[in-house]
Amino acid sequence: MTLTPTPADKFTFGLWTVGYAGNDPFGGPTRAPLDVVHVVEKLAELGAYGLTFHDDDLFAFGSTEAERRAQIERLKAALAATGLKTPMITTNLFSHPVFKDGGFTSNDRSVRRFALRKVLRNLDLAAELGATTFVMWGGREGAEYDAAKDIRAALERYREAVNLLGQYVVDKGYDIRFAIEPKPNEPRGDILLPTVGHALAFIETLERPEMVGLNPEVGHEQMAGLNFATAIAQALYHGKLFHIDLNGQRGIKYDQDLVFGHGDLHNAFALVDLLENGGPGGSQTYTGPRHFDYKPSRTEDETGVWVSAAANMKTYLLLKERAAAFRADPEVQEALVAAKVPDLSLPTVGTDEGYAGLLADASAFEEFDADGYFNANGFNFVRLQQLATEHLLGAR
Ligand code: GCO
Ligand code: MN
Ligand code: MN
Repeated sequence: MTLTPTPADKFTFGLWTVGYAGNDPFGGPTRAPLDVVHVVEKLAELGAYGLTFHDDDLFAFGSTEAERRAQIERLKAALAATGLKTPMITTNLFSHPVFKDGGFTSNDRSVRRFALRKVLRNLDLAAELGATTFVMWGGREGAEYDAAKDIRAALERYREAVNLLGQYVVDKGYDIRFAIEPKPNEPRGDILLPTVGHALAFIETLERPEMVGLNPEVGHEQMAGLNFATAIAQALYHGKLFHIDLNGQRGIKYDQDLVFGHGDLHNAFALVDLLENGGPGGSQTYTGPRHFDYKPSRTEDETGVWVSAAANMKTYLLLKERAAAFRADPEVQEALVAAKVPDLSLPTVGTDEGYAGLLADASAFEEFDADGYFNANGFNFVRLQQLATEHLLGAR
């Protein structure tokens, strides 16, 4: 297995990721802005597959139609010259002051109508560029104060917005699906649809749930103290992993957006193993773009930006190699059996058995030795985790 990325690996980057100039709440930019054509050329050189962007990353909010068109044409020319794709695009409903109380769920109806118009225009652009996934990250859809936001009304407005956008995509005949990106907080004190689980429940209430899935981000679940690989497994279970944002986070704190793997490395290993080997017969469970949504630290200069972009891809490929070695190790296969991992796939009650058969089975209850689980019948999970750790460290 090679550790040099190629477009076949489907690595994509947001224009706002490598383009992050280093501004945070305590200081301004530490780097000069990067031009989109330069970004496309550098990403192609590094072996990436594609670029993603928000409308405002490409042309400033309030650009004239001519300015907007000029930037779109510059991007298209760079894509044509390099072969880079734009599989996902999204709309910025969070930077401009008009969105200070959100877009789809602002208390101000005229802001909600403006937000919808901005997204409709960007859906046309997504279709023009061949993007098939449209991400919705509602960073400003939320509140700081309980009395200030009627949460049920806000969810209803969110639902109204997604239903309307779905109708538009259907009527236009666009090949686009929506991917909601959960986040618990930041920039709002509390954000609506804060976790994968909340978003899954919301999607089921929509008019066209089949058109709407998730774009979970590593750091966002981890900011809530949740296990990202577990969240992805549940998203896959519901057929809702439409896209993924890979990055690194170190515990419950502000959104760090570190390089993939530069946070909880064990969880990153479990995630790559799930994505690459978790399907039937050890196949991939997810075939879409491996999208990096990270921020090159503001300590770095432009050289460091490209070093960090390459680091995301190399770390993913290293973890993919390590996960393959883990799965191929006969001792791991034996340890999985010893931990009864395959047994969990057996139905608990036989198909023809039903509760009547279960009630009639004395070995299930009357004769069952529950006390035999004291001081015996260990599950051997730690041995399995140590084998995973040794593979992760390259020691096996
Ligand atoms: C974050 C988010 C954002 C969104 C992006 C797409 O770090 O809070 O990841 O970066 O992914 O804006 O809309
Ligand atoms: Mn983030
Ligand atoms: Mn993201």
